[in-house]
Amino acid sequence: MINAIILCNNDMLCQSARSMGKLIHVVVGARPNQMKAAPLLKALRQHEKFEPILVDTGQHYDHEMAGIFMQQFGMGKPDFSLQVGSGTHGEQTGKILQRYEALLLEHPPSATIVIGDINSTVACALAASKLQIPVVHLEAGLRSNDRSMPEELNRIVTDHLADLLWTPSADGDENLLKSGIDKSKIIRVGNIMIDTLVSMKPAVEASTFLQGVKIHHQEFAMVTLHRPSNVDVPETLNILLDELKAVSLEMDILWPLHPRTKARIQSIGRMDELIDNPAIHLMGPLGYIDFMNGIMHSNCVITDSGGIQEETTWLGVPCITLRPNTERPITISQGTNVLASPKTLQSELIRLRKEGLPDREEIEYWDGKTAQRCVQSLEQFLWR
Ligand code: UD1
Repeated sequence: MINAIILCNNDMLCQSARSMGKLIHVVVGARPNQMKAAPLLKALRQHEKFEPILVDTGQHYDHEMAGIFMQQFGMGKPDFSLQVGSGTHGEQTGKILQRYEALLLEHPPSATIVIGDINSTVACALAASKLQIPVVHLEAGLRSNDRSMPEELNRIVTDHLADLLWTPSADGDENLLKSGIDKSKIIRVGNIMIDTLVSMKPAVEASTFLQGVKIHHQEFAMVTLHRPSNVDVPETLNILLDELKAVSLEMDILWPLHPRTKARIQSIGRMDELIDNPAIHLMGPLGYIDFMNGIMHSNCVITDSGGIQEETTWLGVPCITLRPNTERPITISQGTNVLASPKTLQSELIRLRKEGLPDREEIEYWDGKTAQRCVQSLEQFLWR
């Protein structure tokens, strides 16, 4: 135990025993980090020169938002848990900064790897950077060019703090170069989420999840919504619910509710109406295996998530993204993903169902081997 709030689950580390390889922190905090951290951790653990340490900030803390993923991916328990929980952005980011700094002072690693665009990403990058610990950003260079999104601010700041930037696709490299980041720091490693999808595919295909759902229509859509811009404003949420109700006349809707969305629907008093609709199937957040099984077999996905736009692109499932912009433009140019507003949702759905998806080419480095490229890059970086 470092102090009363940081939990150490690894006895060897608690006693500050000397390790064989270079200590590398891999930081996770919220659900979308887990499927990116898992393949990287595995590849680092297999490399004799590295000793990866899993640090969980605890931004997401419910079993179904965090623990189930670590379990399904075989990540093991986090070595350190910062247990920050929920709060306003300032509160949450501040707590992570403070607690991660304390951890770094006691157990300084050779590098800190931060992932994606959540509050934990920016807070841990800042703490490490100020202590002159090299920061590596996995999934660098994404830009929605929409500064009203908290994630966009997290991306911009993290990319400017990072010493090594691992991008998933060419647009990421271009964004970083445009913002003045030195070319020598940018390495295109590919999309690490696809590593997880490739390795978990047999388990996903074997899931019996859909046997437990009584589908009324011929087709169904998987829905996920949690962005503040969609669910926090009652007027927008009301329109969205009306549109989804209209969709449910033609297709079933399978909707694993994010805790934020559940609370907002309850606060505008429309939960019972959704529960009473036999074509709308509300459920709690799903684990990776059942969720991806639903996505894989769905006729369409309606979402405001970032990662799901990429997963549907790889799987070839039509996706409608309820946002005015995306930091993942490659999913649009591939023709699998389309942006929509609540008001254009129905017309896009009709078009997609009529036209289907265009032929697509494989995207470079979305091949299940990204973690290997990350490890090679880290080795070159630390022993250069
Ligand atoms: C966070 C990330 C977002 C990511 C999303 C995936 C930031 C700024 N946002 O948004 O980038 O796409 O995770 O889910 O870092 N809650 C629970 N249980 C939990 C976690 C949260 O009940 O395990 C509740 C919180 O109390 C809060 C709500 O869910 O009321 C939303 O959590 P919050 O931390 O605000 O961010 P997310 O919307 O999940």
